[in-house]
Amino acid sequence: MGNEQKRNTFKGSLGFVLAAAGSAVGLGNIWRFPYLATKDGGGMFLAVYLILALTFGFSLLMTETAIGRKTKQSPLTAYGAINKKWKSLGILACIIPAMILPYYCAIGGWVIKYLLEYITGQGSLAAQDGYFNSFISGTSGPIIMTLIFLAAVVFVIMRGVNKGIESFSKVLMPILLVLVVVIAVFSVTLEHTDDNGTVRTGMEGLAIYLIPNFKDFTIEKFFTVLIDAMGQLFFSLSVAMGIMITYGSYVHDDADLNASVNQIEIFDTAVAFLAGVMIIPAVYVFSGTEGMSASGPGLMFISLPKVFNKMGAVGGAMGIMFFAMVFFAALTSAISIMEAVVSSFMDKFGISRVKSAIIVTIWTLIMSVTVCLGYNAFYFEFTLPNGSTAQILDIMDYLSNNVLMPIVAIGTCILIGWIAKPDTVIDEVEKAGAKMGRKKLYLVMIKFLAPVMLTILLIRSLGIF
Ligand code: ALA
Repeated sequence: MGNEQKRNTFKGSLGFVLAAAGSAVGLGNIWRFPYLATKDGGGMFLAVYLILALTFGFSLLMTETAIGRKTKQSPLTAYGAINKKWKSLGILACIIPAMILPYYCAIGGWVIKYLLEYITGQGSLAAQDGYFNSFISGTSGPIIMTLIFLAAVVFVIMRGVNKGIESFSKVLMPILLVLVVVIAVFSVTLEHTDDNGTVRTGMEGLAIYLIPNFKDFTIEKFFTVLIDAMGQLFFSLSVAMGIMITYGSYVHDDADLNASVNQIEIFDTAVAFLAGVMIIPAVYVFSGTEGMSASGPGLMFISLPKVFNKMGAVGGAMGIMFFAMVFFAALTSAISIMEAVVSSFMDKFGISRVKSAIIVTIWTLIMSVTVCLGYNAFYFEFTLPNGSTAQILDIMDYLSNNVLMPIVAIGTCILIGWIAKPDTVIDEVEKAGAKMGRKKLYLVMIKFLAPVMLTILLIRSLGIF
């Protein structure tokens, strides 16, 4: 166990920040954030999300990165290195990325399919009614696309921390940012007159997104916004998935963790915000407020292709740019999810990167094909405790995101807040002379507020109230 001597490190802080931002910016930012923002009263959700990002998100992100750098271990062994009695939390933290990776690859495969449709000029096909459902319920199509996506992830992982993760993040993340900004600017400048003669503009859509909607405001509604924002923040920042511990373990001892964590937070929150600017005005202009209620796959794979179709000549180019951007976001996140498991097995069993990657690939291959067949041969309907109907993909998402992640995060807060004590993290952040900002806030968050909020989130996710 342990391979501190040979452990790779990111060459510089920029590599770490871009790799971690690449992990954070993913499907969660693009398809869930804009949906939640419209559902939860626009600006009100944004304000709550921002406050939580600066307090709750910051505390969890800082904690996990510091655990990684201090122990120089991946999640499977890092918790045990902090306190021997907490080894089992590491097992749980390693199961989560192993569970997320297969369905993340399946969705990555759908993204590749749409990207190819737009590149080959078939974007209008993707806008037809029933296209998405007929594609995902096919047999070979979704499986082939998923395997292509998985192959891309494995290719980067096999190249290692520097030549793979760091180099790819340094190229893909700036491109992603440019694409997001270009699409967002384009979206707010749109204008369209519908069949009834109603003119709608992108600026009006932007106002719906930004201006808080206090209509029917109640304490119960505010509570829902809070829970939604917290759940989203979790997935979005890639915390409680073992990822930030893994990436933290590759950070140089003299790097300024405080500054890096702040930059990662800013990057992730900015892209989530801009995803709303890209999507909400465009959907509003072409489909009105009704079109804005779609979420998840519905928004990205059904509503948006219809919007691109109505844009006329530029729609094809926008489709290419949009799905290329989503592909980069999904790829860099999937790389980090796989790396958390690959690196865990390397640390635990002392095996090589190649061996570990092969084991994880076989698991992901079997499970992602199972996920794809969940819409075909293995189709069944299941109702989750939160009332939504689910297939295999949704069940894996629910179990990882709504059940296991809050449990791991609560465990992390108790371990650091009460057992190992917050100084474990603070001393790690400050050991190279850097100052940890928001220290008092961190103490209150990690010991009291975060575990209480997380417990409420977990109880709510389980449908108990
Ligand atoms: N943080 C990644 C996302 O938002 C996993 O999709």
